[in-house]
Amino acid sequence: MKKILLLAAFFFIGTNVFANDEGKELHSESCIMCHNDTMYTRLESKIENHYGLRRQVSFCSSNLGIGWFPDEEDAVVDFLNSNYYKFNN
Ligand code: HEC
Repeated sequence: MKKILLLAAFFFIGTNVFANDEGKELHSESCIMCHNDTMYTRLESKIENHYGLRRQVSFCSSNLGIGWFPDEEDAVVDFLNSNYYKFNN
């Protein structure tokens, strides 16, 4: 039983890392043509929480018409949040 739990934990961590790589890749493919990552750390950032971040990513990606699936959008939100914003709400 313990072994199964351990395996499950590894699997979970593994997929998380994968999601973050995916977000990073999607982001560099489509998002750095207008703003580089200093946009995310600018002092006057309008983004105040996780919801705001989600909304902005949605806004920028639908403006672009790149047709991301919700899970791809999620991956990018996760990537930005874990690297720059660090919201936990
Ligand atoms: C066509 C140009 C353009 C592209 C491409 C673009 N953005 Fe943006 N983005 C903007 C502009 C302009 C702002 C500033 C909006 C403002 O100040 O209200 C912005 C702001 C943001 C912010 C908020 C930064 C902050 O903290 O204030 C985030 C997050 C963001 N973009 C994510 C993305 C993501 C993710 C992508 C890739 C899908 C992307 N953007 C692609 C133009 C773009």
